Order: sequence, then structure tokens, then C-alpha cells
Amino acid sequence: MPHIENILALEILDSRGNPTLQVTVDLSDGHRGRANVPSGASTGSKEALEHRDHDLGRYGGKGVLQAVNAVETIVAPHLKNQNPYDQKNIDQLMIDLDGTANKSRLGANTILGVSMATAVAAAHSLKVPLYRQLRSVELSYLPVPMMNILNGGVHADTNVGIQEFMIVPVAAPSFHEAVRWGAEIYHSLKKVLKNKGLSTGVGDEGGFAPHLDNNEAALHCIAEAIEKAGFKLGQDVYLALDCAASEFYRDGKYHLDEKSLTSETLLVYYESLIRQFPIISIEDGMAEDDRDGWKKLTAALGEKIQLVGDDVFVTNPAILQEGISDQIANALLVKLNQIGTLTETFQAIDMAHRANYRCIISHRSGESEDTFIADLAVASSAKQIKTGAPARTDRVAKYNRLMEIEKELGTQARYAGQEILTLR
Ligand code: PGA
Ligand code: ZN
Repeated sequence: MPHIENILALEILDSRGNPTLQVTVDLSDGHRGRANVPSGASTGSKEALEHRDHDLGRYGGKGVLQAVNAVETIVAPHLKNQNPYDQKNIDQLMIDLDGTANKSRLGANTILGVSMATAVAAAHSLKVPLYRQLRSVELSYLPVPMMNILNGGVHADTNVGIQEFMIVPVAAPSFHEAVRWGAEIYHSLKKVLKNKGLSTGVGDEGGFAPHLDNNEAALHCIAEAIEKAGFKLGQDVYLALDCAASEFYRDGKYHLDEKSLTSETLLVYYESLIRQFPIISIEDGMAEDDRDGWKKLTAALGEKIQLVGDDVFVTNPAILQEGISDQIANALLVKLNQIGTLTETFQAIDMAHRANYRCIISHRSGESEDTFIADLAVASSAKQIKTGAPARTDRVAKYNRLMEIEKELGTQARYAGQEILTLR
């Protein structure tokens, strides 16, 4: 049985040019695992704490040298000689060593980097693909990609209020065909925007970020792009939104498209969007602090469409449990760095599935070439993944990894496709 020999960390750059942590776990049998930690911009207030140096003389205070130091001088000696195959134990040792509720002592980035890199090292050591090491399932689902092809909110420098406009190619016969459909629609959207004299520069997640009058205008452009690419909107391809409503919620009001809305009038607005467009999923439709708004949203639309909790659940099993009891949302967005260990991430996924909530594995807006979440999506049977536009290496790397997994699994793999249309 191999043991953990050494753990190293490095300050690297993420897709936005901000520092992030890379962790390398070396095992006694010579195998090595490596992982890069992602980072968000529209973060939930209850996320586990990401450690930054706050030294304004470096990277505007965003350096992670203290996290590097924590990995090498605090975590590494603590985990030395431990069994890398026992992920639960590794994670628990770090949770206990940290000793805080939100991982503020060591930092969620510190702990997550080690948690992920240990799993990768174990997979290499056991000579199994990472998705098998994370969890062995009989039938592997390739997730439906929710591709964010138009970026707004805090991910773009424009006046488009909704953060993410996604296409969902449910009717594709396979994952790789879904990727092709998505890429063709992406290119079609570029032409549509160009013809309208709009900018084709991209936002943080690779989607276009044009100045548009309002959110409907974005949806009209996407609908046109889908048709022009030769696909049927509402049959081949559906739409999904991440409103990231916490970002435009101030003083008890939602400030969207130069309107000031209550949760009731925001809900009316969503209902009108759903009537006009085949939107099958709305994420963070209400702000994380507006529980009442969330309850109303779920009561009104929870039987019709997928309502995804991101900022409101922050992949935290305890917070998710409260949300399930309060009948808030019907799906969980899964982001490893919101909670900080692989074990707790799986706890949240399993809890969601037991309560008939769907799961969507997600990237962060700050990403890297790391493809861990592609394997996580297959291992967790999540059936949906959100990892940006089919463009830019930080996003495409995950799609490419999933196509590789699909080929490797052959007949043991099934594209989740239309299955996601059946609620509960
Ligand atoms: P973030 O955005 O990574 O900037 O938090 C992604 C999301 O809100 O889903
Ligand atoms: Zn979100």
C-alpha cells in the first residue's frame, strides 16, 4: 500500500490572469497527482473561504503564497504517510486540522487543492481513470453540456444584467455530437452579432459579451443563431439562464435592465421569458438572502422548470438540507471550491439526489487547464455540466476530456440527453 510521501504547491495563473493554487501530491510508489484550484467572481457569501495574501504589492493583493506555504508546511507534514486511497480520511484530517466552519484557517483553496490532487494521485497509482477512482458506477452518464455562449453580469463589461445565457443540446445523440451542435451554434451566434454590428469580444467564460438593450435581446440573438445553425429551438436545443440574482439585489430590490423589481415582479418577468422562449432551467433566480423570494419562485415554477441553487446552497450539505426542508429550488449547482473537499462535495451530491434534486457539476469563472470536473460529472451521475462556451482552452479542456471519456467507455456510456427533461 503506497503512502503520501510529499505535497508541493505552486502559485500559478488562472484564466483571468489572477493567481491560483496548483498542488502536487507525490506517493511512495512514485505516482503523482496534480490539481489546479478554480476561483469564482460572483461568489456566494457562505462559500468556504478562499485564502488570498492581501499583500497589495503583489497581484493587487490576490497572491496565494500563504496558501502555498500552508500546503507545504502545515498540511504536508500532517498527511505524510497517510493512505491516499482513503479520500474520506484525508479530507477529514484536513477538516480537523483547519478546525473552522468555513475553512478560514487553512483556506478552502489550500484544502481543496490537496483533496483533488490526492484523488488524482490515487487514480494514477491504481491505474484507473479518475472518474472510476472517484466513484465506480455501473452505467456512466455523459452529462448534457449547458454551454454559456453569451456572458453578462459580473462576467462581462456590458449592460446585460443576466450573467449567463446557455444553450442545452438535449436531443444530440451523443456527447460529442452535443459538443458539435454547441460549437456550430456558437459560431452562428458570432455571425448574428457581427451582422447586427455588435461586439464579438468574449466574457470570462468564453461566451460573447455584446452591449444589448436588455436580456430579451440576448435571447432573440441566441434563438436566431440556433435556427441559422440548422437546429430547432425547443426541440433539439433548449435554453438555460444563470441570473446570479444576488449580484443585482440591493436594499430588498432587484435592479435589472434599469428596472427596480420586487421578488414578485421579478417572478412575473421570468414567467414572461419562459412563455417567449423554451427556457428549461433558471439558476439563482432569486438572491441568496431572499428566502421568501426563493420560496415563491419554487412554488410558482418548481414543477415546470429546473430551478438551480448556486449562491443559495454553496455546495454545503448543511445549507442544502435547510433548503430542501424549506422547499427551495429543485436542483443543486456543484462547485468543489465552494465547500473545499471532495468528500463534502459528494455528500452534497448524494443528499441532493436522495431528495430528488438534480445536480449540475460546474466550473468557476476563473478556471485553468485542469479537467477534474469532467471526471467528477461522470463519476457522480450528475447528468448535467456547466463549463462555459465551446471556446477558450480553460472551458474546452473539460469538453475535450468528456469526449475522451465517452470514447473510452464505449457502450458503457450513455449521453444523458432527453432524460434531463423529465423533472423528478
Ligand atoms: P462564478 O460564476 O464562478 O464567478 O461564481 C459561476 C456561477 O455563478 O455559476
Ligand atoms: Zn451561478
